[in-house]
Amino acid sequence: MLRQLLIPLLLFASHASAQVTVYATTGTAAAQRPTPCIGAVACDGSPLQPINAPANGAQFNNEITAQLFSGGMANLSMEHFGHFAGFSLELSVANHLIGTDGTHINPVFMNLLSTITSRSGKIWLRVGGNTQDRATVIPEGLPKGAAIEKLPGEAADNTKTPTLLLSPGLIYAMGNMSSTVDIEWFLGVPFNDTQDPRLLIAEIGQAVLGDKLIGLQMGNEPDLYWENGIRPANYTPDEYNQDWGTFLNDYINDPNIKNTTQFLAPSVCCGGNIGWTPEQVFNTGFLDNYDKNLGYISVHHYPTDNCNGSGTPIDPQSLIGSTFLNHGNVQSQINSYLNTSQIALARGKPFIMFETNTASCGGFAGVSDTFLAAQWAVDYALTLAFGNFSAAMFHVGGQSDYYNPFTPPATNQTKFRQWSIGPMFYAHMLLAEAFGTTGTAQVVDLFLNNNDQYTCGYAIYENGNPARVVLINYLTDASGAHNYTANVAIGGGTTGQAAATPSTVQVKYLLAPSATEKWNITWGQQTFGGPFSSDGRLQGDEFIYTITCSNGICPVVMPAPAVAVVYLSSSAISESEPTTTVTFGTTTTATGAANTASVAQAVLQTSNGRGGGNWEQLGSTSFGSITDGARGLYESMSTTAIYSAVAVFAGFGLLWGLRM
Ligand SMILES: *[C@@H]1O[C@H](CO)[C@@H](O)[C@H](O)[C@H]1NC(C)=O
Ligand SMILES: *[C@@H]1O[C@H](CO)[C@@H](O)[C@H](O)[C@H]1NC(C)=O
Ligand SMILES: *[C@@H]1O[C@H](CO)[C@@H](O)[C@H](O)[C@H]1NC(C)=O
Ligand SMILES: *[C@@H]1O[C@H](CO)[C@@H](O)[C@H](O)[C@H]1NC(C)=O
Ligand SMILES: *[C@@H]1O[C@H](CO)[C@@H](O)[C@H](O)[C@H]1NC(C)=O
Ligand SMILES: *[C@@H]1O[C@H](CO)[C@@H](O)[C@H](O)[C@H]1NC(C)=O
Ligand SMILES: *[C@@H]1O[C@H](CO)[C@@H](O)[C@H](O)[C@H]1NC(C)=O
Ligand SMILES: *[C@@H]1O[C@H](CO)[C@@H](O)[C@H](O)[C@H]1NC(C)=O
Ligand SMILES: *[C@@H]1O[C@H](CO)[C@@H](O)[C@H](O)[C@H]1NC(C)=O
Ligand SMILES: *[C@@H]1O[C@H](CO)[C@@H](O)[C@H](O)[C@H]1NC(C)=O
Repeated sequence: MLRQLLIPLLLFASHASAQVTVYATTGTAAAQRPTPCIGAVACDGSPLQPINAPANGAQFNNEITAQLFSGGMANLSMEHFGHFAGFSLELSVANHLIGTDGTHINPVFMNLLSTITSRSGKIWLRVGGNTQDRATVIPEGLPKGAAIEKLPGEAADNTKTPTLLLSPGLIYAMGNMSSTVDIEWFLGVPFNDTQDPRLLIAEIGQAVLGDKLIGLQMGNEPDLYWENGIRPANYTPDEYNQDWGTFLNDYINDPNIKNTTQFLAPSVCCGGNIGWTPEQVFNTGFLDNYDKNLGYISVHHYPTDNCNGSGTPIDPQSLIGSTFLNHGNVQSQINSYLNTSQIALARGKPFIMFETNTASCGGFAGVSDTFLAAQWAVDYALTLAFGNFSAAMFHVGGQSDYYNPFTPPATNQTKFRQWSIGPMFYAHMLLAEAFGTTGTAQVVDLFLNNNDQYTCGYAIYENGNPARVVLINYLTDASGAHNYTANVAIGGGTTGQAAATPSTVQVKYLLAPSATEKWNITWGQQTFGGPFSSDGRLQGDEFIYTITCSNGICPVVMPAPAVAVVYLSSSAISESEPTTTVTFGTTTTATGAANTASVAQAVLQTSNGRGGGNWEQLGSTSFGSITDGARGLYESMSTTAIYSAVAVFAGFGLLWGLRM
């Protein structure tokens, strides 16, 4: 949100301390940090204390029932597709992620996206943010082939938002990315000047991206326009409603705009004393006025902020346990949107959480860049899905932002550094698998354990039947005393329903030694490694547990901390396990030139041969005791070595490699 712009710019100036202050973190790769170390996620990391036990010595429940029912449950959400969780790329830094033009695309970013789409089918990306409102496309391109240029000087308001010049090359790059990986795009269009609507970005977007452009955001947090100088200080929802109509007419009257029904609004963020609620906009007649042209209804929301608005910076440690590691807080974040989600459902429009993350203004050190952020993102996305949002776009900013799911090296270090993958990215992989690919995923919060703040869970139904369960343990306790066992059962018991618990279930864990761990994070034992060390491909062999159920109960041990996906059938796992992952070579070493690649020449996608339901049982060690046969956990491993050819790029020849 708004002050995000302020922060990257200011932090750049004040970032020296972060660059030299390298805190010890557990896990890998401290030795890999370059000097100077640039990048909040990779270089900074104030160690914070996780929560080891419930507050005030409250009793911890080690045995938790997760009761599901065949054929549906009360309060199931609407149906969702696999790409529920997307990314919102701040326009001013989008070129560092994407590349500069149709023939210079960042292969690391492509690998990361491909990692998601091989699980979810496709992914939604938004390019926009505060800078979209004052952006201008230069049709003939920019000097030195740049995709984006920040003009010297800043807006004369307190956001210091720079004016951006954009090259059409950025949109060609987006288009060429979509021709290889199934990416659908939302693009932000300018809204600062009703006299000068600057329609060119939408014209080029529609012409180049075609049906891969699925939405145009008109107005970015208009409820803060009073504050950031885009409009006068007394700007009202009525005036926004009128301005929106003025712009819409410009688009409708432009013969180069082919699609006028894909707009997204109102993208209000803040409500309260600072901004507007969605209802304040709706009450102007907005939804009726523009019903035909609105493809989506959108809001932005962060649970907390690092904007220093009160003049007293928030101590991140104080948020652990109140805002994060707290399922009740996650639930409370969406209450004020449930009216809008009903309105959207009634109008048949997707309702999108269009910009979110752990905390606005870049997130918090030790919170947004640690395992608990991944746990929170899973909890929050599933709560949004339960509340009938249709998608959630997690924001990605620049080097000084802590909440990034992935951060490329600083521009002057791309020749010798790789990317740093943050916890948020692991959450996206897990979510892609949790939602599956049928497009029928219905989510319900199980209010586990009397809706305890530290132990929560969701069921995901597909085609009306239970397919997967997602479980979270927010506590950190290596002793095992705060592990819990989720006893998953389907039907039976006192419900009068026939028992339908399977004889085995499969479990994949997202693990770290602590909720405040930065790098030692694994999903099914695969990882992206430490800072500056990823080419966007998972490392290691995938590992899936098989659990034997007995007496209608499948006991799933949940270490502290962990997130787990429990797959209730072989189809529930095979549909979202990657079968085909397109990978993009960066050459064997990370050299600068190799970090750009032409997708136009990318060939090849190979199947890793993974079939449904074949997991060879290799052993029987696991979390907790396996000596009790009835409750044993069995390790198993995916049967197939995962081979995949590395894509071909101009100048780099054909590389065959092991997809790790
Ligand atoms: C369904 O939701 C309603 C309203 O939030 C709640 O009162 C009720 O307890 C829920 N039912 C179940 C079975 O969770
Ligand atoms: C979500 O929508 C479904 C209908 O698809 C409805 O039954 C359910 O109550 C809604 N959930 C919430 C939290 O509003
Ligand atoms: C790919 O990029 C090239 C050059 O930038 C451009 O000519 C071409 O139209 C792009 N393709 C797509 C599908 O956008
Ligand atoms: C809108 O932004 C453009 C590009 O920065 C600028 O030239 C123009 O003066 C702005 N218009 C208003 C009304 O602020
Ligand atoms: C306009 O875009 C929306 C969103 O992608 C799409 O559903 C619709 O079919 C498009 N309309 C036309 C006329 O292409
Ligand atoms: C829901 O929003 C509509 C439109 O703004 C409003 O008229 C209605 O009062 C709201 N209902 C609730 C329960 O907030
Ligand atoms: C927070 O705001 C106060 C008052 O404006 C200022 O003195 C302080 O330096 C700010 N802190 C940070 C970290 O920006
Ligand atoms: C890269 O840029 C940073 C400032 O952003 C500077 O401190 C550093 O010395 C530069 N490194 C190299 C290798 O030029
Ligand atoms: C990484 O975390 C796992 C638990 O998730 C732990 O067993 C392992 O020892 C840790 N490795 C390092 C290098 O810290
Ligand atoms: C608890 O989980 C840990 C992994 O974090 C495992 O090593 C331990 O054996 C488990 N203990 C019990 C009692 O399940």
